[in-house]
Amino acid sequence: MMSSVYTGKRIVVGVTGSIAAFKVAGWVSTLAKEEAQVSVVMTRSATQFITPLTFSSLSGNKVHVDMFDAEGGETMAHIMLGREADLVIVAPATANTIGNLAGGLAPDLLSTTILATRAPVIVCPAMNSRMYTHPAVQNNLKRLVECNYTVIDPDEGVMACKEDGKGRLPEWDQVDPIFQKSISKQDLKAVKILITAGPTREAIDPARFLSNRSSGKMGYRLAEAAARRGAEVTLVSGPTALAPPVGVRCVKVQSAVDMHAAVMQHAEENKVIIKSAAVADYRSREIAAEKIKKDKISEHLELARNPDILFELGQRKKSGQLLVGFAAESSNLEVEGRKKLEAKNLDLIAVNNINSDDTGFETDNNQVLLLSANDAEMLPFTSKAQTSDLILDRVCRLL
Ligand code: PMT
Repeated sequence: MMSSVYTGKRIVVGVTGSIAAFKVAGWVSTLAKEEAQVSVVMTRSATQFITPLTFSSLSGNKVHVDMFDAEGGETMAHIMLGREADLVIVAPATANTIGNLAGGLAPDLLSTTILATRAPVIVCPAMNSRMYTHPAVQNNLKRLVECNYTVIDPDEGVMACKEDGKGRLPEWDQVDPIFQKSISKQDLKAVKILITAGPTREAIDPARFLSNRSSGKMGYRLAEAAARRGAEVTLVSGPTALAPPVGVRCVKVQSAVDMHAAVMQHAEENKVIIKSAAVADYRSREIAAEKIKKDKISEHLELARNPDILFELGQRKKSGQLLVGFAAESSNLEVEGRKKLEAKNLDLIAVNNINSDDTGFETDNNQVLLLSANDAEMLPFTSKAQTSDLILDRVCRLL
C-alpha cells in the first residue's frame, strides 16, 4: 500500500443519529485502508441506526459511546481522544449535536471530546431539508464557523424521508479533498500555481485528430496536491476523462494553439508554472471542413509546427517566477532532460521514462528524475499523487 496523506494520522470520527451514518461506515473503511488511526465516537442515538460493532470492525479500533464506559475503564476517553487527534470529523451531524456544539454543551462523549480538542474540526450536517433550513439550525452552524470549525454543506437531493432538498450527506469524493487539506502542511498557502495537464488534440477533419496517450493523471495529481497544500491552482487541461479536482480552477482546452492561448493568458499572474501536459509539436496544416474520404487522407496529412509553449514561457520568465517542465524520454533521461532544462530556461525538470509499462503515460504510478541546474535526484517509483508531493517539496525549497 503506497503511503497516503492519511497514513498514521489520528482521526476521530464522530457519528450521530442519522440514517446517513451508514454512508460514514464507508468513509471509515476508506480511512482505515489508507492506514489512518481511526477512533469512532458514537452518540447513543447513532447506535439506533448502526452498531458499534460495524465501526470497530471497519476501523480496527475500540468504538466509544458513553462518557463512562464501564468496560472500557477509560473515564478520560474524551481527553485522550481530543488531545491526540490530528482531525475530528462529525458526520453525519444532526441538528441536536450541532446545537450542543454551538452552545458549548457537553451532554455526551462526542461533544465533550470536541470541547477537549484543539485539532481541526469538520462538521458534515445531514438532516431533513426543512430542519436544515430552520433559522435555529442555520444560526447554530454560523456559530460553529465562528468557533473556527469547518462546515461542509449538505448536498441537494432526495433523502431517506423521500423529501427533496438540501440535507443529504455529501459523497466521499467531495469531502476527501477537504479532509486531506485539513491535515496537510499549508506550505504553499496563497501561492498561485499554473499547471497544464493531458494531451492536446490537433484536428484533421470533423472526425479525426492527432493526439497522444496522456491521460492527464500526472497533472491532475499535481493540481490536487498543490491545492491540498494551500496553493491557488489554475489547471489548464487538454481533453481527459478525469473529473476536475475540487478547489482548483480548471480551464479546458483542445489544441496546442488553444493551450498556448490559455497558458499565456494566465502565466503572468502565477508564481509557479508546472507544465506536465503532453503538447503536440505538430498540427495538420489545414483542418478539412468535411470528413475526408479515406482514399484522400494521405493528401491531407501535411503538418505545421505548433508553438513551443514551455520555450516561450522560458523566454518571458519573470524574476522570482519558477518554471517547471516535464520531459517524456525513452532513453538518456539525464542528458535529454538537461538539454531541455537549459534550452527552455527552466528551474526544474521532471524527466520520466515513457518506454516502460509502469511509468509515464496513463499509469497511476511514476518515477521521475528531478533535475535542476546543479542537482539530480531520482525520485522513488511511487503513485503520481506522492510523486506530485515530492516535486512540490522541491518547488517549496526553490521558492
Ligand atoms: O498524463 P499522464 O497519462 O499521467 O502522463 C504523464 C506524462 C507522461 C504526460 C507526463 O509525465 C509528461 O511527461 N509530460 C510531458 C510530455 C511531453 O510533452 O514531454 P516533451 O518532452 O515532449 O515536452 C517537454 C516539455 O515541453 C513538457 O513540459 C511539455 O509540456 C512542453 N511542451 C512541449 C511541446 C510544446 N509544443 N509545448 C510545450 O510546452
